[in-house]
Amino acid sequence: MKVLLIGSGGREHALAWKLAQSPLMEEFYAAPGNPGIAEHATLADINIDDHAAVVAFCKDKAIDFVVVGPEAPLVAGIADALRDAGIAVFGPSAGAAQLEGSKGFTKDICARYNIPTGAYQRFNNAPKAKAYVRAEGAPIVIKADGLAAGKGVTVAMTVDEALAAIDDCFEGAFGDAGAEVVVEAFLDGEEASFFCLSDGKTALALATAQDHKRVGDGDTGPNTGGMGAYSPAPVMTDEMVSRTMKEIIEPTIKGMAESGYPFSGIFFAGLMITDKGPELIEYNVRFGDPECQVLLMRLKSDLLPLLYACSNGTLDQVTADWSDDVALTVVMASKGYPGSYDKGTPIASLPAAGSDGKVFHAGTALKDGRLVATGGRVLNVTATGKTVAEAQAKAYALVDRVEWDNGFCRRDIGWRAIAREQG
Ligand code: AMP
Ligand code: GLY
Repeated sequence: MKVLLIGSGGREHALAWKLAQSPLMEEFYAAPGNPGIAEHATLADINIDDHAAVVAFCKDKAIDFVVVGPEAPLVAGIADALRDAGIAVFGPSAGAAQLEGSKGFTKDICARYNIPTGAYQRFNNAPKAKAYVRAEGAPIVIKADGLAAGKGVTVAMTVDEALAAIDDCFEGAFGDAGAEVVVEAFLDGEEASFFCLSDGKTALALATAQDHKRVGDGDTGPNTGGMGAYSPAPVMTDEMVSRTMKEIIEPTIKGMAESGYPFSGIFFAGLMITDKGPELIEYNVRFGDPECQVLLMRLKSDLLPLLYACSNGTLDQVTADWSDDVALTVVMASKGYPGSYDKGTPIASLPAAGSDGKVFHAGTALKDGRLVATGGRVLNVTATGKTVAEAQAKAYALVDRVEWDNGFCRRDIGWRAIAREQG
């Protein structure tokens, strides 16, 4: 099979590493890619925002299958353009990607199909949103409707904080994404991420993970794209997984199909495990970053046929085998992230790939033949172990072998699960 991978982050490096191992792979390209991805695929210099250019590249190289990593091209309709050109693609249509692209859309699907989630209302002006907040009281959650790079959500512990967040949204702090606001009940519990493939009819559960969104140790400081993750998430017991499938995923597949948006691709369900059971916080329509890295370290099966089955309606004919080991990844970021940071700082040395783990590249580039950091999140240092504590110790041993003066990381990834292991 001739495959094109779209994206350039740590998630896509992990996808490239795993897809390249497939015996079915004949030719492998990635756009725009990064130096880590370049170890597994030929980088193609195409503008991924230009869908006609992506389709033309696929025709030229006789690409059979396109795997889309990030959400923005999906929400912009890249999968539709490829399918219209007769090219198979992993990832939902723009219509189905509204599950991530519009929080209000998702809440309406939840309401119509009885999917457990926080009670909510949608607003297109500040006075009505504020009146609702005053009536409901705090804690309460304010969300910009559209894609806001993970920054459009305020968990307000006071009414004043909620009112200020409403003003921020309508005053344009999140651009067009904030033109509509969802106000949602606060859910109390432990968060977990659940990943599940779908071909529009069938679901195939993959695995669970937990992210660390705050920049600082002990879950302090501002939110980020994710500073580290591990899989599996102990809070997702077999019972919670089967309830999530039955109460959340299966009704979503049905609801999306009935609404005219059959969903093919991956559901990344952000869950709150409350006293009542799993409740949906949000859907993403792509692998998590860095959750993908830990998932794929544990996947024993060939990834390529699993993703391809989503595109041609044959997901009921494949299965996924998982290692029982724990995988844990530590994100190394440029000092200053998630605020401003220097770009182009040199990464003097990385540990060689080996059985100790794997360093995935996110925001890196080659400049005059030398590796430099170009992004906020730059490296994902990943290891496996029999326990979270063992995987953590191995990952940090690897972190300590990275020579990058401008890098930093949290030193406590996995703390919640380790506390649980130590009982
Ligand atoms: P989201 O972008 O929707 O994932 O929200 C970002 C983060 O805000 C989530 O990971 C949760 O930690 C928190 N959050 C979102 N919605 C709620 C809610 N209804 N109750 C409590 N926390 C929430
Ligand atoms: N790590 C969270 C995300 O990918 O959205």
